[in-house]
Amino acid sequence: MANFFPRWSNWLPLKISICGTFIVCGLTAGTWYYITPKYTRVGYQPIQPVPFPHDLHVSQLGMDCRYCHSFVDVAAASNLPNTQTCMACHTQVQKDNPKLEPVRASWKTGQPIEWVQLHRTPDYVYYDHSAHVNRGISCANCHGPVNHMPVVYHAKPHSMAWCLECHRHPENFLRPETQITNLDWKPEQENVASFVAKYGQPADAKDDWSKKQKLTQREIGQTLKERWNIQPPLNCQGCHR
Ligand code: HEC
Ligand code: HEC
Ligand code: HEC
Ligand code: HEC
Ligand code: HEC
Repeated sequence: MANFFPRWSNWLPLKISICGTFIVCGLTAGTWYYITPKYTRVGYQPIQPVPFPHDLHVSQLGMDCRYCHSFVDVAAASNLPNTQTCMACHTQVQKDNPKLEPVRASWKTGQPIEWVQLHRTPDYVYYDHSAHVNRGISCANCHGPVNHMPVVYHAKPHSMAWCLECHRHPENFLRPETQITNLDWKPEQENVASFVAKYGQPADAKDDWSKKQKLTQREIGQTLKERWNIQPPLNCQGCHR
């Protein structure tokens, strides 16, 4: 009896199954790559040379972010504090704490502490801190509740969609410029009378807002957006220069 299938076809089922596996894996990997990269960064918390407690220094000791990140409102990039900034206190405080050994070593040798960077936008993206923190956007909007973090982690996606979500509706995020580094600020805590006296209210608002008990985030955001003429870039060149 003639062989119905040619000889090479004996391997066909195996080939199909191998190809199939590759295709399925490829599709999974592809989907994974395109859907999840914006989320994989969230939660990133590398081991640092010193487990620097933001919660203790900010919430308990009352230090402002700008004490250490002193360029954040004047430059595109923020900075990390140098060893001298730490040693201003730690020559006296916690002198023998082993956790601070790398700080003391750095102080002796003059070699900076090698902090691991968490947040990094790709080179083809233009980002500027001062353009945000001087226009009513808080650290909390982009870095989460750092003031309650024992060790800082990557809290927000920092993807393009995430940037655009705010650029389309900044009124959902804007707050008075005096509250930028007050990460616990809540719109309902804002004193309504003094807010309206200082910033006014949107032109199309009918009733007198200063009579209100509380203002919502949207009301505060709308007011500031109009007052400061906030227009975040939505065009590609705005962020890809
Ligand atoms: C006493 C100094 C000090 C103060 C005050 C301080 N920080 Fe930091 N911050 C550091 C140091 C040191 C690092 C680097 C170590 C680390 O990442 O844990 C850091 C890292 C960070 C990072 C991560 C940087 C990266 O690598 O991407 C963010 C975000 C940050 N701080 C935000 C804040 C905010 C917001 C505040 C105010 C609520 C604040 N910091 C107050 C010292 C400080
Ligand atoms: C304004 C003063 C001040 C500055 C500046 C300061 N610290 Fe501190 N730090 C303190 C105090 C006060 C404590 C101890 C609080 C306590 O005893 O509970 C402390 C505690 C610590 C601890 C010990 C936490 C623990 O769990 O044992 C570490 C680590 C530390 N600081 C790191 C740093 C680093 C790194 C810097 C520089 C980026 C820095 N500090 C800057 C005041 C400061
Ligand atoms: C609109 C969002 C946004 C706001 C608001 C913001 N940051 Fe950032 N931050 C970023 C992005 C994006 C990066 C990564 C920057 C890069 O790669 O150039 C970053 C990086 C950092 C870094 C690492 C050093 C650097 O510049 O690369 C520190 C420290 C930091 N931010 C602190 C702060 C503090 C403190 C505040 C509030 C005063 C703040 N940021 C407000 C988005 C923001
Ligand atoms: C929570 C809100 C918010 C987020 C998140 C945010 N932005 Fe913005 N962005 C603003 C506001 C508000 C302005 C100021 C617009 C103005 O001044 O009219 C702005 C302005 C800008 C500008 C123009 C600055 C200049 O110097 O011309 C760029 C570029 C920019 N953002 C890039 C980014 C990028 C990239 C990201 C994401 C990594 C991002 N923004 C995330 C609110 C946000
Ligand atoms: C508000 C700032 C902003 C605007 C406006 C913007 N982008 Fe982006 N874009 C980003 C950021 C931030 C990333 C990096 C995302 C990441 O690292 O996950 C990015 C990444 C990209 C990438 C790389 C692929 C990806 O998704 O990571 C492409 C392609 C891109 N943008 C194209 C565009 C085009 C086309 C436009 C205009 C329609 C545009 N962008 C407008 C902020 C912006």
